[in-house]
Amino acid sequence: MGFDRQILEASLKAERKSDYLPFSLHIFESVSSTNQILWDLLHQGAEAGSVVIATQQTAGRGQWGRQWISHTGGLYLSVAIAPKLEASASHQLTLASAWGIAAQLRQCGVSVGIKWPNDLVLEGRKLGGILTETKVSHGQIAQAVIGVGINWANPVPETGINLELWQAAQATKPISCLEMLTCTVLQGIESGMQCLSQEGISILLSRYLDLLTNIGDRVYINSHAGIVVGVTSQGNLQLRMATDNTDELIKPEISVEPGIISLGYSKSSV
Ligand code: BTN
Repeated sequence: MGFDRQILEASLKAERKSDYLPFSLHIFESVSSTNQILWDLLHQGAEAGSVVIATQQTAGRGQWGRQWISHTGGLYLSVAIAPKLEASASHQLTLASAWGIAAQLRQCGVSVGIKWPNDLVLEGRKLGGILTETKVSHGQIAQAVIGVGINWANPVPETGINLELWQAAQATKPISCLEMLTCTVLQGIESGMQCLSQEGISILLSRYLDLLTNIGDRVYINSHAGIVVGVTSQGNLQLRMATDNTDELIKPEISVEPGIISLGYSKSSV
């Protein structure tokens, strides 16, 4: 069963209470990667607001160069944006998207949290992930592609969860189909970007931290134990390190860049 453009367009219009759609939708059956197809379209002149959706991907891209397994049944979507941000602030796009999507899903009754920096989690398992890619010109982000993969009805590994199965065990089923999920995700990205551009990174970060599931997690850096206490405005994980001296009242804090440390799903570790 393919993706139904009419259902998506109708639900986007209904949510916005407007006939105008700020998105230009490109829907495919199977592509290499929706991020890659969107970059190709951008090179051909497509603009911010262009969206690529695919039923499956044959070379889906994940964080840190990993592969994103993309069987039919999942949501695979990429959105082009043109933020007014310096290249060094590109992590803010991921924080904004993660917060926006999680907040929007929570409004629908899906109790999603965020696992630093870019995972959407439900009941301690991975529901989805975000991959932000940017094109930089003169130190500024000229174009950005926000790629989102969410497990809807696709098979998932043990550390994953799919939303359709999760909903089947709930009293209500707030998201009725893949197209409704797509609508929710697009609205989430839009509201995350709006929060970032209108309210700024401090407010966005405090909202992100409200949904972060890692606070209080114990982690180890080079065998030194620490506790997750937050995320900095640079997007780094903030840790309070344990000291050998039990009398020491002030514990040293350090911050760690994404990619240096990996927070597990059941237990945090380096
Ligand atoms: C992660 O590693 O957690 C991020 C995964 C992002 C996957 C999505 S699926 C749609 C878009 N196209 C891609 O190739 N990747 C992103």
